[in-house]
Amino acid sequence: MIVSVLALTGCGQGADQDDQGETQEQASSPDQIYKNNCSSCHGQNLEGSVGPSLEEVGAQYSKKDIELIIQNGRGQMPAQNQVSKEQRATLAEWLAEKK
Ligand code: HEC
Repeated sequence: MIVSVLALTGCGQGADQDDQGETQEQASSPDQIYKNNCSSCHGQNLEGSVGPSLEEVGAQYSKKDIELIIQNGRGQMPAQNQVSKEQRATLAEWLAEKK
């Protein structure tokens, strides 16, 4: 008897907490950040296109180097200012492991 009453009241709340949608704007997984910002030039799978392949970028560059390239651009690559500081760190860490 008591159990069913609790179950009923518990059910009324919480159910209509709308998904808040705010996390959609800023992708936070590295492969998503990559696809949104880099894949047009470096290929869907890091294979390269306008820009060089990044498949083994970690063998050549540290996380810090890659963060600086994203932030400042290099040669033909424009600075990627739309990528936030957090996204840059996440992405650079992921890329630095590609070797
Ligand atoms: C508009 C095209 C373009 C976009 C967008 C772009 N890049 Fe590049 N990227 C290039 C080009 C071109 C180069 C070669 C630059 C040079 O050395 O002259 C390059 C070079 C690099 C290098 C150095 C690679 C090497 O072997 O020397 C890294 C690392 C890199 N890009 C990472 C990124 C990341 C991460 C993103 C997304 C945040 C990104 N790039 C977005 C065009 C682009």
